[in-house]
Amino acid sequence: MSTGSGADRRVTVRELRARKDGEKIVALTAYDCLLARFVDEGGVDVVLVGDSLGNIVLGHPDTIPVTVDDMIHHARAVRRGVKRALLVVDMPFLSYQVSSEDALRNAGRILKETGAEAVKLEGGSPRIAETIRLLVDAGIPVMGHLGFTPQSVHATGGYRVQARDEGARAALVEDARRLEEAGAFSIVLELVPGPAAEEVTRAVSVPTIGIGAGAACDGQVLVLHDMLGMNRDFTPRFLRRFAEVGDAIDEGVRGYVEAVRAGEYPAAEHTFE
Ligand code: KIV
Repeated sequence: MSTGSGADRRVTVRELRARKDGEKIVALTAYDCLLARFVDEGGVDVVLVGDSLGNIVLGHPDTIPVTVDDMIHHARAVRRGVKRALLVVDMPFLSYQVSSEDALRNAGRILKETGAEAVKLEGGSPRIAETIRLLVDAGIPVMGHLGFTPQSVHATGGYRVQARDEGARAALVEDARRLEEAGAFSIVLELVPGPAAEEVTRAVSVPTIGIGAGAACDGQVLVLHDMLGMNRDFTPRFLRRFAEVGDAIDEGVRGYVEAVRAGEYPAAEHTFE
């Protein structure tokens, strides 16, 4: 739904679909209101409350433990900070795989309780496509997610590049077409070789949004804390750090500790008369 014109206007699913082969779509994750406001005001098209929340914010080793309630709690906070970008919320592990009805109930909860505009779910099997069709029929926009799908990390044997051989590449294209046909409005491609991502991007009429998938995708998504240099142990080849916020935080905290211990802070100008 469009709410006006110019910079205040909300980004819609329809507009994103129309960006296929056009201006690149820019997406970032956010998990709280304050950083969501920075991201939205910075001009991204999509704010994703990713289930990477599990690793980045909650301290889990992967996304498996994340619950629907966790997603709703954080997405509600993010909603308060996002005025313009399209807000997409990840459906966490086992919130859509048990049955299509369960998926509909959980996706409905996410939209109703957070005010998000769309959900994202992982995988490209016929069963997942059937679930996407049911959600789309109910009026819930769905973003797909193919390539490396973090909720299947134990099945795929770790965080690794997918679709490296001809067979896997053909299967990826087939999965993407299945998601398109089911009604997904865009597809995230994670950890996929550049040529495979390019083939998928050419094969479908909906935008692809890459992360570790090269430059041929219709858009790009990154995890905010990774690209800001706050998650300093995570250094995959695809990642560019656009700032070193981790270093700035280190410096700030150390400076505070030293100043308090040295009796330099608080000083007279910080003290009420
Ligand atoms: O959970 C997440 O942050 C994601 C992005 C990496 C696409 O799914």
